[in-house]
Amino acid sequence: MEHKPVLLNEVMEVLNPKAGEIFVDGTIDGGGHAKAILEKISPGGKLIGIDWDKNAIEKFELKITNHQSTIILVNDNFKNMKEILKNENIVKADGVLLDLGFSSEQLDPPAGGAGRGFSFLRDEPLLMTYSDRTRPAYRVLSEESESNLAKVIKDFGEERFAGRIARTIKKNLPVATSKKLAEVVASAVPKNYEHGRINPATRTFQALRIFVNQELENLRTFLESVPQILNPGGRLAVISFHSLEDRIVKNEFRQWKQNGFVEILTKKPITPSPEEIQNNPRSRSAKLRGLKVAQEKQIQ
Ligand SMILES: C[S@@+](CC[C@H](N)C(=O)[O-])C[C@H]1O[C@@H](n2cnc3c(N)ncnc32)[C@H](O)[C@@H]1O
Repeated sequence: MEHKPVLLNEVMEVLNPKAGEIFVDGTIDGGGHAKAILEKISPGGKLIGIDWDKNAIEKFELKITNHQSTIILVNDNFKNMKEILKNENIVKADGVLLDLGFSSEQLDPPAGGAGRGFSFLRDEPLLMTYSDRTRPAYRVLSEESESNLAKVIKDFGEERFAGRIARTIKKNLPVATSKKLAEVVASAVPKNYEHGRINPATRTFQALRIFVNQELENLRTFLESVPQILNPGGRLAVISFHSLEDRIVKNEFRQWKQNGFVEILTKKPITPSPEEIQNNPRSRSAKLRGLKVAQEKQIQ
């Protein structure tokens, strides 16, 4: 399924890109947001597009042919943004965007595309990785202890049946496909799980994906580097899709605001309108937070 950019107008309002500016899209994927940024920073601007998934980078390369601004594409983890900019001889950027998690195409690849096991509705190898260099989920399930797995599912999935699920996974190894994991989880939880409101595998899949890719660590490491990445007056926009991520972003923003180093551009997180949710159900849980670095001081 083609990925639709989430909260596009709202992101553009927060980032407010201008001709000649330097921008970084840390999760460029198909470039839904990046293309809108490119329009605004042209002529003379520079866009550094990062994605951990090399297929995403290749896909984006095919979409852009000639443009009035410079585009640099990098297949890496956004947690390395400071080093990536240094390698490109860029001192600081005027704006940075992170649109966290997976894209619709990674979740639901087009016919013939290789799925990575992100969806409990599909039967795919249980990789759950963005990068081929990351240890895949099926190995995590075999190699981690039952108690570690239970902790991961509880902490990152906020799943109250984590212990039962971990025990059932261990009894049914190898669990090498997304379909098998979904079945194993369903067999471990009560029949009326959450009164049928969500699929029983929802929380376990989220937890494993976060653990496999160290998603919260990536976000924390990136946020720590923001002071060295953004120019005075620079803007940062982060779209998160679950409360664990949003809490990390909220707390870091609040800390910087207390120090007087940033202005928060989103008093409350911005969420999609009912029309956007109807048009793009994946946007349902999105939360956008934005800030602007103070002109005079540097954030510390
Ligand atoms: C929601 S999609 C971004 C969609 C994009 N903004 C658009 O509208 O076309 C998230 C992307 O982030 C990438 N990603 C996830 N974690 C990453 C990380 N730590 N570093 C770099 N890219 C990452 C995924 O591979 C995926 O392509």
